[in-house]
This record gives sequence, structure tokens and C-alpha cells, in this order.
Amino acid sequence: MGSMQALVHVLLVSFPGQGHVNPLLRLGKLLASGGLLITFCTTESFGREMRKATNIVDGELTPVGDGFIRFEFFDDGLDEEDLKRLDLDQYLPQLEHFGKELIGRMLRKYTGENRPVSCLINNPFIPWVSDLAGSLGLPSAMLWVQSCACFSAYYHYFHGLVPFPSEAQMEIDVQLPSMPLLKHDEIPSFLHPSTPYLFLRRAILGQFKNLSKPFCVLMDSFQELEKDNIEYMSRFCSIKPVGPLFKLSKQTNSTVTGDFLKADDCAAWLDSKPPSSVIYISFGSIVRLNQQQVNEIAHGLLALLSGDEVEVSFLWVIRPPASEGFGSDKIDLPDGFWEKTGDKGKVVQWSPQEQVLAHPSTACFVSHCGWNSTIEAMASGVPVVAFPQWGDQVTDAKYLVDVFKVGIRLCRGEAENRVISREEVEKCLRDAIVGPKAIEMKANALKWKKAAEEAVAEGGTSDRNFKAFLEEVRTGSALKTSPTV
Ligand code: UDX
Repeated sequence: MGSMQALVHVLLVSFPGQGHVNPLLRLGKLLASGGLLITFCTTESFGREMRKATNIVDGELTPVGDGFIRFEFFDDGLDEEDLKRLDLDQYLPQLEHFGKELIGRMLRKYTGENRPVSCLINNPFIPWVSDLAGSLGLPSAMLWVQSCACFSAYYHYFHGLVPFPSEAQMEIDVQLPSMPLLKHDEIPSFLHPSTPYLFLRRAILGQFKNLSKPFCVLMDSFQELEKDNIEYMSRFCSIKPVGPLFKLSKQTNSTVTGDFLKADDCAAWLDSKPPSSVIYISFGSIVRLNQQQVNEIAHGLLALLSGDEVEVSFLWVIRPPASEGFGSDKIDLPDGFWEKTGDKGKVVQWSPQEQVLAHPSTACFVSHCGWNSTIEAMASGVPVVAFPQWGDQVTDAKYLVDVFKVGIRLCRGEAENRVISREEVEKCLRDAIVGPKAIEMKANALKWKKAAEEAVAEGGTSDRNFKAFLEEVRTGSALKTSPTV
């Protein structure tokens, strides 16, 4: 480990969401391990949850490999329970206003302490980080936290390069270069005219407006997984796939996590189950299913468990209700559910997902297909029962099923606007566990697991890309290629 004072200092700024924090923190640990001082920064509101769920202490330096990581949080100017955070149209300008000011102050403080920051890295929804870097003459990079396919879809939409569904033509297919034809409900749903989440479209496109500013776009994907898309999109910006970051960052041996809920221990329960017999069910950190849909899934599981054809159990993540606003309704399981499932079922509020997916008892993953869950499943060799809702999830589901061929489709997304029945749930789960489809999906999942392992191994594509990026940041050569603002 070098003298801390001499280490190159990089500031990572994350949008406050679990799906954003996880990949950026994994990158942060890798950079620290490579001999840098990393300050990881997000809002105080998210930091409060992280402190409760993990043992992080503000500002405390944690050694990782040859360097250090520490956390700093900034105030977004809202009270603890302010519901404005749920409305990105209101929240993003607020975050920008406070973030620019407070992170600017943080940067000046570090300079005063003789630990100036050499580079800033952000993830989507907060493109102003690269403006701030530019105004101070610092280089910046961006970590894209979705697939390259979705990056391409947003890019082409933003620049009007191909026709997308419009008010006049709601159901047209979309042909993007190097991609299979996407049906109208397979494009990232925020781009569809029927989306109720226009604010999310605006939020994500903000990054594309600023795309010329970061000197590099890092991606939590890998060359072999999205070869054609990565090659095609590299014509427009400097893309470096460095994923799967959860796998690459394992090499750091660091236990630092950024969970916003404390994970329940699932290891002993999983250990007690036969190999490939557990259905893992989780819909990430945002999606909440309504009571009716939860009932149907529960009854589908009961039907599957009551048959003697397959020996299965399930591990289901049902997050606690939010204290206020969206998702504050308590979700109940049907009467008599636990009497019928016994030890064959376990419900937790938050799981250690990486460990669950790596466990030999896990058979398949019923997922909302957020990109983190998608890449974590594939790189762990676990087939997916695709239950997408919105945004990039519907495109990820398309890829899981039709391109990567490790998934089976249970629904098409929120736009379908219907409850998926218990019969559909039962059939789909059975097909994912026994029979020819299950065998084919498992074989493909194992193939992707191997490819992911090769990508992050010494000399693999992601390993080389990461090391090249680390070198650029460490030597300051990023500065020379960074556009001035
Ligand atoms: C959000 C968006 O919803 C998603 O579409 C986008 O691709 C990324 O940002 P989220 O919905 O939280 O993310 O899903 P996902 O991308 O899957 O990320 C969830 C993360 O939380 C994963 O890294 C997963 O391992 C972790 N997790 C989830 C747990 O550790 N335990 C759990 O119980 C559930």
C-alpha cells in the first residue's frame, strides 16, 4: 500500500438508487485496489439507509488492495421523508443545484487538504457531474449501469436516428443497428409514448445530451456478451466494457457494500436444500407488485410445491413497505400459505443476492430483469424467469429470452396491464426447472458464466479494459483526451 498522501484521488458520484450504487461501488473498490484513493459520494438520504444496513462510517478510510475507499454524503436540501424524491422531474433539478454546490465545496476542501481530486466518475441521471468536472478542468468518466443494447436504444432515440413508436404509430417495431427487431413493448419502455414515466425518459436522456463530455463510457457488460452492440456504439463514443463488475470486483476481497437494507442470512437455509432445487424470487430495489399479483405468484408456488413431479423450495424477497407514498401498502401472503409451504419456503426483506445466485441449491431466478440482476444471474450460471415491469427491464427480458437464451418469459411488462395468473406462474416455473427448456437454459447459462469468468480473468477483455482505464486515470493521460468545457 502506498503512502495515502501520494495516491491519485478519484471522486465517484452516484445517483441515490441501489441499482446505481452497486455497480459504481464495485468499480470504486477495483480502482482503490489498483492503488487509488477513492471517495464514494451520494446523497445523505441514501447514506442514512446505508449506515443502518452496513458498517460504513463517514470519511473513514478503508484499505482495499493497494489503496483506500471512503464514503462522503451530501445533503440534497430535502427533509428526511420528503416525497419530492419520488418525482424525478422535481428532484433532479434539486439534486443538481445542491450537488453542484456541495460537491464543488468538497473538491475545494480536498485541494486544501493537499489531496486534490484528479478525476470524477458518475452514473446516469446526474450528468451535471461532468459539467462540474469540466468547469474545474478535471476529466470525467461515466459508468453506464444498463446494457449496451439499451444504451444504443437511448442514443438512437435521442438523435432521432431510427423511427420509434409515436402517438401516431404506437405499435411499430424498432430496428436498431446490430440488434434483433424489437417489438414496441421491447424497447426501453420510457421511450414509448404510452409511458407514465416521462420524467424517467427525460432523466436518462440528460446523459445523452452530455455524452461528449466524459472521456470514457464504462459499461457493466462484457465484450463477448454484447459484442456487436459494443463495436457499433464505439463509433460514437469511447466505450470500455468492464463487467460483470460484481465478478471483477471479487478480486479485491473487499467486504464493503452499499446495501440500503440489511441482508437476511440465507446461507444455512440454502445449504439445507438439494442442489438446483430453489426458486429465487426478487424484483430488485424499486419494483413493487400489487397484492393481486403477489397472490397469484403465491398460489402458483403452492400448486408447484403440492405436485410430486418436482422437488422444489423458494426464497422470495418481499421488501418492507415504504414509510410513505408509493409502495407504502403492506403486502400479505394468502391465508394458510405458511402451513402449506412449511420449510419449503422462505421470505426475506432483502437477500445477499450475489451469494444466493452463487449457491448450488439455486435453480432459477424469477426476476424483474433489472440490468444488475440480469448480469449477476448470467455470470452465476442461473437461468431466469423473466418478469419485467418497465424501463430497460423489458429490453433485458427480450435479450435474456431470445438472444442470450437463458430465460423464459412470464410476462411482457407493465404495459401489458394485466395480472399474470397462478396457472401461468406454475407452468412457467415448472418449465424453468424440468424438461428440455430447463436443460437448454441451464446449459446456456453455464456457457455465459464461463464467458464472464474469462472476461474478468487476467488478460480477459474486461480485465484489460479496466487496467487500461486505471492506467489512464493514474497517469493523468485522461486529462489530455478530456474535452474542455
Ligand atoms: C434499477 C432499475 O430498476 C433497473 O431496471 C436498472 O437496470 C438499474 O437500476 P433495480 O430495480 O434495483 O435497479 O434492479 P437491479 O438492476 O437488478 O439492481 C438491484 C441490485 O440490488 C442488484 O445488484 C442485486 O444484487 C441487489 N439486491 C437485490 C440484493 O442485494 N438483494 C435483494 O434482495 C435484491
